[in-house]
Amino acid sequence: MKRRDKVIQNSLPRHVAIILDGNGRWAKRRRKPRTYGHKFGALNVKNIAFEAHELGIEVLSVYAFSTENWKRPKAEIDYLMSLPDLFKEEYKDEIKHDHIRVVFSGRRDRVGEENRKYMEEVEEKTKDRDGLILNVCLDYGSRYELTEAAKSIAEKVRKGDIEPEQIDEETVDNHLYTAGLPPVDLMIRTSGEQRLSNFLLWQNSYAEFYFTKTHWPAFSIRRFHKALRNYQLRDRKFGGLKKKG
Ligand code: IPE
Ligand code: IPE
Ligand code: MG
Repeated sequence: MKRRDKVIQNSLPRHVAIILDGNGRWAKRRRKPRTYGHKFGALNVKNIAFEAHELGIEVLSVYAFSTENWKRPKAEIDYLMSLPDLFKEEYKDEIKHDHIRVVFSGRRDRVGEENRKYMEEVEEKTKDRDGLILNVCLDYGSRYELTEAAKSIAEKVRKGDIEPEQIDEETVDNHLYTAGLPPVDLMIRTSGEQRLSNFLLWQNSYAEFYFTKTHWPAFSIRRFHKALRNYQLRDRKFGGLKKKG
């Protein structure tokens, strides 16, 4: 049986998160500038998102730019911040008729006016779609997200809207960018690094991790299926006892 068929026949993760790493190394291997890798990396998001949608996965979160990536050279940052334009071109037709809903997680105050407008426009245009939710994490940092959540909860307490005793895990969850989305089931990081780099710390608390040496632009649909099969063979216990014998 083909791997894709096996993937479909077994229980799928509801939420897959991917740290899109290795664009620079992929380009370097080809003796090209890092930006070349970023371009192919951005285009690959479309391939994997479409396949995730076809498979019936509910949410795909992709880490596109972290709050720490501002430390990079200005020219690289400028290129990365121009990638939404590439998407605008690439998704021109699909945006009209496909089922994917796009949402963004991260700070909106540093990405530039044009990107901010585009992000709002895409979110608005796709908000009633019934297929995959593509959560693009741009200028995203988990520690910042949690700090902001703490601030806005504190503000509600100060105003008397809620009592401190009423704060529970759901309250925190509802104050994150990902409010309303299920927790991450499968977290993939490409390119060999085995760390979270400030990505979805709360949401990943019971995720299964999958690391691959493949650089992001080379992460094909076949490799995505391989990661999903690997996930399906795991025994998730959530602190309970083993299901499998
Ligand atoms: C991931 O690729 C993309 C971003 C962080 C924006 P990198 O740019 O980190 O590529 P490497 O890790 O240097 O190869
Ligand atoms: C993580 O990759 C951020 C994104 C993929 C957007 P980095 O390449 O920035 O992470 P570190 O520096 O290796 O931890
Ligand atoms: Mg990297």
